[in-house]
Amino acid sequence: MKTITALAEMSAAVREVKAAGRTIGFVPTMGFLHEGHLSLVREARRVSDIVVVSIFVNPQQFGPGEDFRVYPRDIARDSRMLEPLGVDYLFCPNEGEMYPPGYRTHVEVRDLQDRLCGRSRPEHFRGVCTVVLKLFNIVRPDCAFFGQKDAQQVLIIKRMAADLDLAVSVVARPIVRETDGLALSSRQMYLSPEERRAATVLWRCLEAVRRDCSGGEVRAEVLIQTMKDLIGREPLARVDYLAVVRPDTLEPVARVEGETLVALAVTIGRTRLIDNMLLRPDGWPEGDNVKKLTKG
Ligand code: PAJ
Repeated sequence: MKTITALAEMSAAVREVKAAGRTIGFVPTMGFLHEGHLSLVREARRVSDIVVVSIFVNPQQFGPGEDFRVYPRDIARDSRMLEPLGVDYLFCPNEGEMYPPGYRTHVEVRDLQDRLCGRSRPEHFRGVCTVVLKLFNIVRPDCAFFGQKDAQQVLIIKRMAADLDLAVSVVARPIVRETDGLALSSRQMYLSPEERRAATVLWRCLEAVRRDCSGGEVRAEVLIQTMKDLIGREPLARVDYLAVVRPDTLEPVARVEGETLVALAVTIGRTRLIDNMLLRPDGWPEGDNVKKLTKG
C-alpha cells in the first residue's frame, strides 16, 4: 500500500492505472476506521483491480460548533488496518491543497440536502458533495463505495453523479453493527460507558418499528410515537429527528406502503448519532439492510 498526500502524485498514479486499462474502486472516508469502513474496502477489493481509500477530515462538512477540531485522527492506526486488506493507495490529501486560498466552488443537491440531517446541519451535504466530487475528479474511480448507514448521503451522491454525468457507479453497502445493534461510527469513541449503553436506543427504536410494522401498524405517526416514547425513557438521549420517508425523495409518508425509510438522529450526551432502516412491505430482509458484526 502506497500512501500519497500530494494531489499531483495521486493524479499521476491514476493516469498510470487507467493507461494499463485497470479499474479503480474507491472508498472515501474521514478515517478513524472501523469495521463499517473495512466492509466497504473489502467490497472494493473484490470487484476492482486497484483499490484507493481516502482519508480526509473535510472541514467544509462540519458546521460552526461541530466536532471538526476534535474529530479523531490516527493515520498510522488506519494504515495498519488497511494494509492487510490489499489496498493499493491510501490517499490523504491536506487541507491547504484541497481548499487553497481563493477557493469558491460548491456543489449543491437541492431539496434532498435540506431534509433529515440537513435541517440541523444546513451546509453539511454541500460540503460532502463538494469534497466527494473533488475526490472523484482526482481518483477517477469506476466504482465508489458508500455505507447505507448514511442513507441520505449515499442518496445525494447518487443524485449528484446522475445529474452531473459522472462516470462512476455509486454503490451502497449494508450497515455494519455491533452485536447489540449499535451501528458502528467513528463518533462512538466520544461516548462514556454509560452513554454507550444508552446509544442502543437507536437500534431499539428501529427494532420496535420493525416489530410494529410487521404486526400490521403502518401509520407513520404511530411508528414515530413509538420511537419518541423509547427515547423519552432514556435520560441521556435527545431526539434530533425521527422520520418515516420515501427512500428516493426523503419526503415524509403518512403510511408504510411501498419501500419506506425509517431514519433517526439522536443526541446521546453531546454526541449526535444517526441510524436508519429500509422497510419493505413484504417483511424485513435482514441480510440486505442489516449486517451484524460478529465478534472474534
Ligand atoms: P465517514 O464517516 O468516515 O464514512 C465513510 C464511509 O463509511 C461512508 O460511506 C459511511 O456511510 C460508511 N460507514 C460509516 N459507518 C458505517 C457502518 N456502520 N456500516 C457501513 N458503512 C459505514 O461519510 C463520510 O466519512 C464523509 O462524509 C465522506 C463521504 C468521506 C466525505 O467527506
